[in-house]
Amino acid sequence: MVEKQTWTTLILGAGAAGMMCAAHAGPDVLVIDHAKAPGEKIRISGGGRCNFTNMHAAPDCFISANPHFCKSALSRYTQWDFVDLVGRHGVGWHEKTLGQLFCDRSARDVIAMLRAEMDAAGATLWLRTSVIDVDATPEGFRVSLEREGARVEIHARNLVLATGGKSIPKMGATGLAYRLARQFGLALTDIRPALVPLTFGPEAGFAELSGLSVPARVSAGGTAFDEALLFTHRGLSGPAILQASSYWRDGDGITLDLAPGTDLSARLREMKRAGGKRALHTALADLLPARLAADLARRHGLTGNLADQSDARLAGIAEALSAWHLVPTGSEGYRTAEVTLGGIDTDGLDSRTMAARRVPGLYAIGEAVDVTGWLGGYNFQWAWSSGWAAGQAI
Ligand code: FDA
Repeated sequence: MVEKQTWTTLILGAGAAGMMCAAHAGPDVLVIDHAKAPGEKIRISGGGRCNFTNMHAAPDCFISANPHFCKSALSRYTQWDFVDLVGRHGVGWHEKTLGQLFCDRSARDVIAMLRAEMDAAGATLWLRTSVIDVDATPEGFRVSLEREGARVEIHARNLVLATGGKSIPKMGATGLAYRLARQFGLALTDIRPALVPLTFGPEAGFAELSGLSVPARVSAGGTAFDEALLFTHRGLSGPAILQASSYWRDGDGITLDLAPGTDLSARLREMKRAGGKRALHTALADLLPARLAADLARRHGLTGNLADQSDARLAGIAEALSAWHLVPTGSEGYRTAEVTLGGIDTDGLDSRTMAARRVPGLYAIGEAVDVTGWLGGYNFQWAWSSGWAAGQAI
C-alpha cells in the first residue's frame, strides 16, 4: 500500500532557495531533500562562515542569457532584506572584503535561522527522501517519493524545483531540476562548471609556484577581475581565476596582469634611471613576490642589469607581465565548482514569480535557474531573492 498525502505546495530541495521559499510560501508546505541535513552547502560555504550576501549585489553581478531576468526578484528582496533577517535572529556578521558579508560565528547560524523561519511559517521538512518520479495531474502534480524505505505519493497544487545545479556531486548535487524541467517542456541553456579553478599542462610550469598568491587582474571573455590569483599544482585558482572561469570557454585564452593598476614600463624605466646597475630580476622582485620574479626572469630569459635594457625592451618586459596570455587545458569541473553556470532557461519563467509560464503551479528557483552570480555572496543572494519571490507568489 502506497501512502498518499495531499499538500498545497511541495518544494524539492532544502538548500538555500528551497528553505527561503518554504519560509514564505504560506502554510501547508512540504519540503523534501535526499540529504540527511538541510542546507549542506550553506554549512560548508565561506570556509564555514557563509558569505551570505554582498553589499554591492546588483543585476550586473549575475550572468544569464537574459540579463534582465534577475532584476525583479533582486530588487524586491535585496541584500538589505537578508541583512535585516539575520539581524532579527541575532546572527552577528561582518564585511570581509569587497562588500562580502560573513557570519561572525558559524554558517550553521544561517541554517538554524532558516529552519526557525520555516517552523514559524508551519512548513514541514522531510530529509533522506528521494524523488522517484513526477507527473502532472488535473489538480497539479503527483510526486512519488521514497522515505525511510517506504513509498509515499504526494499530491500538490504547486511544485517548486529547488534542487540546485550539478556542482559538487559528493554533496548531493544531482541535476534533478534540469531533468524535471525538461520533462515539463522547459528549455535548458548550456550548463558548465563555474567559479572553478582552471587547469594547465605541466609545460605551464605552475607546480613550482604552487601555493603562491598574488594580486592580479584576470580577464576572460571580455570581463576582468582584480582579486588574488593562486598558483596550484594543477594550474591557477584564487578568487580572480574563479571569477574569470565563469566567462571562460573551452579552448579560449585568459590574460593575467600581474601588476594591475601599475604602469610597469614606466616603473622599470624609473628604476633604470635610479640605479641601472641592479640586476633585472632583482628589480622585478621590488614589484612582484621574489619567487614569481625569479620564475618570470627564467621564463622570459631576463638577464643582465637594468642599464643593459633599452626602453623598448623594458616596455616588452612590462607587456609580458601585464598581458600574460595563457590557454587553460580545462577546469577542475563539477567536482570543485562552486556553482553551475546556466540552467533552466529563463524564457520559460516569469521573472516576478519564478513560475513556469506554461505549466500552472510549477516554479524554479536558485541555482537550477540560468542566473549565476559572481563569487562573493551573490549566489546566495539569488537563492534568497528567487526563493522569496516564488514564496510570495504561492
Ligand atoms: P543548493 O545546492 O543549496 O540546494 C539544493 C538542495 O537540493 C540540496 O539540499 C540537495 O541535497 C537537494 N537535492 C539535490 N538533488 C536532489 C534530489 N535528486 N532529490 C532530493 N534532493 C535533492 N555562494 C555564496 O553566495 N556565498 C558563498 O560563500 C558560497 N560558498 C560556496 C562554497 C562551496 C564549496 C560551494 C559548493 C558553493 C558555494 N556557494 C556560495 C554557492 C551556493 O552554495 C549555491 O549557489 C547555493 O547553495 C544554491 O542554492 P540552491 O538552494 O539553489 O541549491
